Amino acid sequence: MKILAIESSCDETAASVVENGRTVISSVIASQVEEHKIYGGVVPEIASRRHAENISWVVGKALDEADLDYSGIDAVGVTYAPGLIGALLVGVNFAKGLAFSSKKPLIPVHHLRSHIAANYICSPELEPPFLALVVSGGHSHIINVKSYTDFEIIGRTRDDAAGECLDKAARTMGIPYPGGANLDKIAKNGDNKAYRFPHPRVEGAPLDFSFSGLKTSVINIIHNASQKGETINIPNLGASYISAVVKCLTENLMKAAEITGSRKIVTAGGVSANSVLRNELKELCAERGYKLYMPKLSLCGDNAAMVGSQAYYEYLAGHTAKENLNAIASLGIDKNFIL
Ligand code: KG4
Ligand code: ZN
Repeated sequence: MKILAIESSCDETAASVVENGRTVISSVIASQVEEHKIYGGVVPEIASRRHAENISWVVGKALDEADLDYSGIDAVGVTYAPGLIGALLVGVNFAKGLAFSSKKPLIPVHHLRSHIAANYICSPELEPPFLALVVSGGHSHIINVKSYTDFEIIGRTRDDAAGECLDKAARTMGIPYPGGANLDKIAKNGDNKAYRFPHPRVEGAPLDFSFSGLKTSVINIIHNASQKGETINIPNLGASYISAVVKCLTENLMKAAEITGSRKIVTAGGVSANSVLRNELKELCAERGYKLYMPKLSLCGDNAAMVGSQAYYEYLAGHTAKENLNAIASLGIDKNFIL
């Protein structure tokens, strides 16, 4: 089954053709990073406009690269939630037009489910159940993935997401957007013990995260130094900060593995591209004998191949949409779309 998938939840317009959920035939991404860089973050209105301009040629290119036209496609999958509402609407409406004019099934895909599905592309042997750490710009979850379409959130952030916390810190350090990825590079040669950070824990909820205190703490270090006229060693500060964020993520993930007895660990989302997180997880999982799955770097961030993968499993579960499909800005990964 060949699915044409569309992703437009944030600042990447993407389209892909994926066969049977596992084989990527084509994948095209039009990134808006350079334009949003001027503003230090994604400007939703600009994102929506660029999606509207790009979506037609991005989808056309994905079909061309797959050497297919619409008649060769069996279904259309699209990210419908969560994300920037105006951005999502561009993809959803385009997908609706395509699906209904060509009389193909329309499959709504949850963005975080698709991030997890990036692992099905990279690791053909991977099947649920497993434990997943989903860390993106807007979410930090530990998820018990019971099946391809059944998810239980067992840990979540009480405030900021890990990606947001890295992005805001990077911005305060004067590092250009996209902060998380740039901070990772700049901190590579830094001393991760140069600065001390708190290790926030949520009382009574050992698997939950709280990142806002860490964010405030790094901002205070920078402001205090500037008031005293002291210079900050950015690689050292960045390395110490990333190390603090990663410790929070890995500590809770390892606790979750003990509690659930899961021996298969999966990471997903933009932050799973972080080099410190990847190395730390490799070590921890090797020590404990857990099998670790991580998407390759090109599939950690937003793309449509992962949407095509998850769409296949949603289709098998009977999750197709009608012409009244709408975009939803905020929706839990554990909620199944049913009209
Ligand atoms: O999944 P994603 O591409 O978009 C959302 O769904 O939010 O995640 C974006 C997040 C941003 O916060 C970005 O800074 C972070 O992923 N990110 C990284 C790295 N690459 C992207 N964070 C840390 N290290 C990286 N190498
Ligand atoms: Zn994402």
